Amino acid sequence: MGQKTTELEEQVRELKDKAVAELSDTATEEEVQQVKARYLGRKGSIVALFSQLGSFSSEDKPAAGKLINEAKQAVQTEVERQLERLAQEKKAADRLDVTLPGRRRRLGHKHPLSRVMDDAVAIFRRMGFITADGPDLETEYHNFDALNTPPDHPSRDLEDTFYLPDGRLLRTQTSPVQIRVMENQPPPVRTICPGRCFRRDTPDMTHSMNFHQIEGLYVDRHVTLSELKGTLSRFARELLGPEVNVRFRPHYFPFTEPSIEYDFSCIMCEGKGCSVCKYSGWLEISGAGMVDPAVFEAVGYDPEEWTGYAFGMGVERIAMMRYAINDIRLFYDNNVRFLEQF
Ligand code: DAH
Repeated sequence: MGQKTTELEEQVRELKDKAVAELSDTATEEEVQQVKARYLGRKGSIVALFSQLGSFSSEDKPAAGKLINEAKQAVQTEVERQLERLAQEKKAADRLDVTLPGRRRRLGHKHPLSRVMDDAVAIFRRMGFITADGPDLETEYHNFDALNTPPDHPSRDLEDTFYLPDGRLLRTQTSPVQIRVMENQPPPVRTICPGRCFRRDTPDMTHSMNFHQIEGLYVDRHVTLSELKGTLSRFARELLGPEVNVRFRPHYFPFTEPSIEYDFSCIMCEGKGCSVCKYSGWLEISGAGMVDPAVFEAVGYDPEEWTGYAFGMGVERIAMMRYAINDIRLFYDNNVRFLEQF
C-alpha cells in the first residue's frame, strides 16, 4: 500500500470519527440531517474525498475507493441509528401516564399574627370602627408629649425606647396613631389602628423587641366607661368564643383618666388555670381608659364638649392564647414547620 493510501486512510478515519461524535450530540432530527449533509451531501467532506481518487495509481485506486465508501456507509448507518433514537425519545415523551398523581401546589397562607389582626379588625369594623394607619418611625411629640407623657416619664428612657440620631424614635405603642387621627379630622371619631411597635426589651418567652398592637379610639359626646367595657367584652366573645369573660382592673396611663387594665379569661382552661395563663385563669391583654382632657387639648378638641375612650391590645398575647403558643419568639423565627400549622 502506497504512502498516499495511508494518508487517505488517516483522513477518512478522522472525518468518520468526527461525524459520529457530532451525530451522537444531536437533539433533533433536523440537526441529524444537517450533520449528514456536511459529511455525505454532494459537497460533504467525505464525499469530497472521491475527487482525490484521480491521483491514485491504478493499482491503489480500488482500495482507496473502498476506504471512502466504507466510511460513507458507516456514517450513513450512524445517521439511521440516531434518527431511530430520537424517534424513540419523542414517543416516550408523548406518552401520557394518566395514573400519575397530580402535582400538589404548596399554597402560602396568612401568618397567625396577621390572622388575629385581620379577624380583630373585621370585628371592630362591624361595630363601626374605621381603620387608620400611622408611621413606625414616630416623633417624640406624637409618641409621648401629645399623649400627656412628660419628659421624665420612665418609658421615655433611652433604655426602653429606640431613638434615631435625628430625634425620632421607633414607636413604642400604637397610641400615637390616635393623635394623628384626631389632628386630621374633627370629632366624632371611631377608629382602629393595627400596627407594629418596638421596645428595648431583652427577648424571652413573653418579650420581643418587635411586637404588634391594635389601638382603638372612640370620641363623641357623652361617651362612658361602660361603653368601653361593653365594646371590649363583645369583641372578646366575637373573637374567641361566647364563653370568654373580661375583667377590668384599675391602672394608670398618662393619656387616660380613669385608666384600666383588662384581662380575658383563659380559653385553654376556661378560667380554671393552666400553663398558658400561668394558673391564674386570666390573660392580661392591655390597657384602656377614658381619654384624658390633656390629650384632647393637644389635638385641639374641646374637652368640655368631647369625651372618649381608648384602648390598646397586644396582638401576640391574643394569638398566644388562641393558638396555645408558649413562646413569643416562634412568631418571628419564620420556621415553616411552625407556621404551616395555622
Ligand atoms: N399604649 C398602652 C401600652 O402600650 C396601651 C394603652 C393603654 C392604649 C391605654 C390605650 C389606652 O389606648 O387608652 O401599654
